[in-house]
Amino acid sequence: MNNFNQHVAEGNTTKTLSGSAYTDPEVFEKERRFLFRTLPVMAVPSCHLEKKGSYTVTDIAKESIITVRGKDGTIRALANSCRHRGKRLLQGNNLGGTEKISNLKSIVCPYHGWNYKLDGALAHARGDEAGLLKGLCLRKLQVHEAGGLTFYNKTNENVLHLNALDKALGLLCLSEGKVSATKQYDVKANWKLWTENFLECWHCASSHPELSENKGFITQFENGNEDVYVSDDIKWRIQAQKKGWITPEDADLEMDKAMFSFNVSLPLGKGNLTASKNGKRLGPAFNGAAGFEGGAIFGCLGPFLFYMAYVDYVILFCVRPIAVEQTKVDVFWITAKDFEGSTEDLTWLWNTTLKQDIKLVEESQQGVSSLYYTPGPFQADEYRTQAFVEWWKNWFHK
Ligand code: FES
Ligand SMILES: [Fe+2]
Repeated sequence: MNNFNQHVAEGNTTKTLSGSAYTDPEVFEKERRFLFRTLPVMAVPSCHLEKKGSYTVTDIAKESIITVRGKDGTIRALANSCRHRGKRLLQGNNLGGTEKISNLKSIVCPYHGWNYKLDGALAHARGDEAGLLKGLCLRKLQVHEAGGLTFYNKTNENVLHLNALDKALGLLCLSEGKVSATKQYDVKANWKLWTENFLECWHCASSHPELSENKGFITQFENGNEDVYVSDDIKWRIQAQKKGWITPEDADLEMDKAMFSFNVSLPLGKGNLTASKNGKRLGPAFNGAAGFEGGAIFGCLGPFLFYMAYVDYVILFCVRPIAVEQTKVDVFWITAKDFEGSTEDLTWLWNTTLKQDIKLVEESQQGVSSLYYTPGPFQADEYRTQAFVEWWKNWFHK
C-alpha cells in the first residue's frame, strides 16, 4: 500500500477544492508563475519531429514554446518570443497531423525581420551593422524524450516519472509510428476540473455509454462483478504472454512533491480487441505488440498528460491551461506507420467520449462558480482525484 492509500485507509477524507481555486485569476497567475513551468509538458509525439525543420508550437497560459528538430538532428525547445521587442514568432496551431509537418529553414520574426537559426541563435538582425548582437539566442528549455514522446520543461526535474512512462509506452515503439489524427478541444473550464475528471472513471458508467460498451470493466465494477473483471484479467494476461506480450508492471499513483504519475494495464473484456465501435482492430498492431490485443494501458504523467494505449493506436490527451476558466485539450492519435484505416473510425470512440467530458467539466465550472458551492467529500473510487487535490493543495499552501 503506498502512502496515499494508507492515508485514505486511515480515514482521511480530503474535500474538493474551494471555488476560488477554479475561478480566481490570482490563483491562476500563481500557477502560471510557479507551477506550470516546473512540470514536463508533452509537446508532440517524436515521430512528428522526424524530419529536420519539423516543429510544433505549444501554448500554455501566456507561454508559447517552439519545439523543433534542428539541421544537426537535435530537438530543441525555444521560447516563442523575439529577442528584439518580444513578438510571437510562430503561431500555435501546428499540432502535428500528417499534412502539417513543416520544413522550417529558419525562424524569421514577422515584425522587423530578425532571423534565427533552428538552434535559436540569432543569425541576422536588421540594423545591427556593427554585429553587436552576435551571440543573442532565443531562450532555451530542457528537452526530454520518453516512450516516443517529446517533452520540454524549464528545469531538469521529474525525470523519474518520465522513466516510468518510458517503460509503459516504450514497448510500443511509438517513435516508429505516425500521428494519424489530431484535434484541439476548447473547454470553458479551469484546467484542474479537467484533470480531476480524467483521474477517475467513477462517472464513466453513467456518462459514457459508448466507452462503457467498449470497456467491460466499467460495467463490471458498476454492477459489483469484480470477479468477472479478475477472471478477464487473468485470461487476458495469459493469452498476451503466450503471444510474447509482457505487460509493464503497474504503478498506480507514484507521487512526490513535484510530480505524480500512474500506469496500469487492464483487459478490455467482452471480447473487444481494441477501442473501436465494434471492438475490432482498426489497423495493424504496433511493432512487436500483437499480443497486446484485447488490453489497454491507462496512464498519466502529472496533471497535463493522460494516455490510453491499445494494440493498434495510442491516444494522448494533453491538457493546456490557457486562462483561469479556459483550457485547451490537444489530442493525438498515434498509429503504426502503415495504418491506412479511416480517421473517422479511429477517432469515433474518444471524440464521442471527450465531448461528453467537456459538457461535464464545463457544467462543473458553472457549479463551482456559484456562491452556494461548498467543497464536497470524495468517495473511494475517486482516490486518484483526491490525491491530485491533496498534491495541489500542498503546492499551493507551501
Ligand atoms: S520584434 Fe522581432 S524583429 Fe522586432
Ligand atoms: Fe469522462
